Formats: sequence, C-alpha cells, structure tokens
Amino acid sequence: MKRIGILTAGGDTPALNATLYGAVTRANALRIEVYGFIKGYNSLLNPRMPYVHLNPLFQNIPELDSTYGGSILGASRDYVDVNDRETILKVVERLNRLGIEGLICVGGDGTLNAMQSLADHFHTVLAPKTIDNDLGLNYMAEPDEWVREGKDEGNKPQYRRLAIQDMRLEDMVNYVTPGYATAVFVSAQGVQRIRTTAESHRRIAIIEVMGRQSGYLALGSAYGQPDIILVPEYPLEPDRLIQKVLALYEVQKNVVIVVSEGIVDESGKELGVLSETRDPAENVHYSGAAEAIKRILVEAIGDLYFQERRRNESANAAIFTRKVGHTQRGGRPILFDRFYAALQGGKAVEMLREGWHNGIAILQRSEDGFYLDSIDANRLRDRWGEIHPRYMHPSFYDPARFQPSEKGIEYLRHIFTNAVGHDDVEWVRAQVFDASHLLQPYHSVNVDVHKRIRYLS
Ligand code: F6P
Repeated sequence: MKRIGILTAGGDTPALNATLYGAVTRANALRIEVYGFIKGYNSLLNPRMPYVHLNPLFQNIPELDSTYGGSILGASRDYVDVNDRETILKVVERLNRLGIEGLICVGGDGTLNAMQSLADHFHTVLAPKTIDNDLGLNYMAEPDEWVREGKDEGNKPQYRRLAIQDMRLEDMVNYVTPGYATAVFVSAQGVQRIRTTAESHRRIAIIEVMGRQSGYLALGSAYGQPDIILVPEYPLEPDRLIQKVLALYEVQKNVVIVVSEGIVDESGKELGVLSETRDPAENVHYSGAAEAIKRILVEAIGDLYFQERRRNESANAAIFTRKVGHTQRGGRPILFDRFYAALQGGKAVEMLREGWHNGIAILQRSEDGFYLDSIDANRLRDRWGEIHPRYMHPSFYDPARFQPSEKGIEYLRHIFTNAVGHDDVEWVRAQVFDASHLLQPYHSVNVDVHKRIRYLS
C-alpha cells in the first residue's frame, strides 16, 4: 500500500487532529503517503477533489498538531447519498485516479451510514469520533432490537426498540469515542462555574448540554455536581422534577439542573425541538430543551414563591438557562482524548493494510484496561442496514436520584480517572494569559493549510 486518503466528516470534535496525527505517524513508519481530503465528503463530491499531502517525505506537515482542537482538514455535514450509485462510482474513479488505495473516514454514525455505499467499491474504514459518544453498541445484539414502524411525514422510516437487554461494561463495543472526554471536561467546568453564581443570587440554573438522543454528555457532567441531571433515555416526569427542585431550593436556596438537549416527554416528543429543522445529514436541530424546562418550572412555581422568600425577582428572572453550546466541541483536547484518538487513527491505517473494507477501529475495555480492536461495520447495522446512534444504557442512570447509577459511575471512572494530563494543566498556566496574544492578531491554521491544497487534475 503506497497511498491512502483520510477525511473528517460530520460535526467536529476537539480530538480530530489527534486522530489525523496518529494515522499519519503510523503511515510514516510504514512509508505510506497520506492525502487529507478537505471538508469531509464535500471533497469527494467535488470533481476537483481538493486535498492536502499530510506527510511529504514521510514527515508530518507542521500544521498537524495533536493538541490543537478541530480539524485542519475542515469538516462538513455533506454526505454521499447511499442510493446515488452514479455519484459513488464517480468518487471511486477519482480516488483511483489520485492513486488512493484506501480511505479512512473519521466520523460518527452519520459518516458510517454514508460510508456503506462507498465501502462496497473501495477499501474504507472508520476511525470513530463524536462528542455525543453514540457510535458503538452497548452489547452485540443491540442492532437486532430495532423494528421499523411506518414512515413520518417526510417519508423517513420510523424505528422503535423492541427490548433493551441487561449489559456488562465489558460487552460494550467501542467503549468511548474521541471527543467525548474533552466535551465532558468542558461541561463539568461549566456546571461548576454556574453553580457559584446561582448560589450567590439564590437562583435556579438550567444548563443545556449537547448529545442529541444520547445522554452520555449529561451523565458525564455529574463531575460538576449538578443537583439534577435529565437525560433523553428517561422521559421527563414534570411533577417529580418540580418536587425535587422545591425540596432542594428550600434547603440550599439554589438549584443547578443539567438537561440534555434531546430530552423527551412521556409521549416521546422532543422538548428541545421547537420547529422541526434538519441538517444535511437529516439530524434534527435542537433549539431549546433548557427553555422548555424553564417554562415548566416558571409556570409551576410562580412569582409568589420567590417573593415570599424575600426575593425581589419574578420566577422568570430567578430561573435562568445557559447552553454550554459549541465550547463543548472546540479547543484543546485533554490527554485521554489525544492518546486514544491517535491510537485509533493508527489502528485505522493498520486495518487498511490488512485489507479491511467497511471496518471500524474500536476502543474496547477489559479488566486489564483499554485496548484497540477492529469490527466489521455491518455488526452495527440493523436489519435494514441502518446505523442507530448508541443510546446511553438505562442502567447508567438512577431516575429516582436524577444522578448516575452505580454502573454509570463505574463507566465514567474508567474514562475520567487521570483523563487530564500534567501538560493540560501547564498549558492553562502558560497559554491563557500569554502576553503575545495581546500584541498579535489570531493566525488561523486555515491560512497555512490553504496554501497546501492540491487538486485532481
Ligand atoms: O453530533 C455532535 C453535535 O455537537 C450534537 O451534540 C449537536 O446536537 C450537534 O452536533 C450540533 O450541530 P451543529 O454544530 O451543526 O449545529
């Protein structure tokens, strides 16, 4: 194998450059050239196929820094339509013309769904990434539990889970995805920062975290010690929530709630979806789960409650919402993410050399710790070929306490104990108030990478 391609698709994560770094470093050792395609699948769909040679003379280009967040290649939510055979064959022809012998897609479930069609014609493997931690399985039989039930107004098939089995942590396929640890690191800090202002002003704070339909990010925010965590896997019970909030407020005069953007009511309706809009990958846009919870609390608690407690504020002012937002996805990855993202990138190169097509480089965990493995992507598909996002297993959460369960805590501890490195701490000390930042304008890595872009002639 002389030359391979790599791209980063879907929403970015802080560990993408670390995955690229791991892949290119392994390729250098194997004397394989690596071409990085610009903006995910967008480049493949472009007849000129913009790319960057990431290791001329088998040395990493200097822009490739595993500690730098985002992706120097850029990312997009453009996907190859699995039913558009003509386009897929054109993509394959272009890859062949460029001398590419295998392709690594760094991405999540959307990327993997799109990869299927390409993988039928070309050696393609996935190096996972997503802050949502929803790429993988809780146990091997999980895909078989999905059934199709009719179509929605947009003619999209609707799925339902027939059953959910018990699981052991060792059964998990792809224990954790690169990007998740850093996103939790940011969310947990966000919770801690909001807490002290809620304490001072005797307020109720509702903090929204990302994660789509999976509650992993909200679960991990438990490190910031919120009083209440709401996850999509358990439909909201408004009365129990209100009682818990009032009981906490009576004692500590402030409450901090973390809400996952994908939470649902008892009918399954997503509370954070005000008007249904979707991105190019058909993912729904979430606009206001925290606001929805606020409306419920304002209406139930009312102004009088706060006035009687000698507060001058209305319920509307005493209850506030904040989104951690895209800060979860940006910035420097912490040690855990950097280390395992790089290993998975290297593993993906090995898989291409072994002749895999449609495979995934996964991170497994046994009693002895983490280890790399590979799996055929088909194992993640349901009977209709669909890859579903991995839901947080319900046994990770204790709905009575609104907190992680014992098993959820064990799951988190395996990832986060020692997840932050000494260099991460030192970086904060040295970098944040670096005086040169005041003197020099920001220099975007895009400027340098742009100079390296080449095209298929
Ligand atoms: O899938 C990653 C993710 O960050 C989700 O948690 C979130 O809902 C979504 O992407 C936001 O996407 P965008 O940046 O395209 O708005």
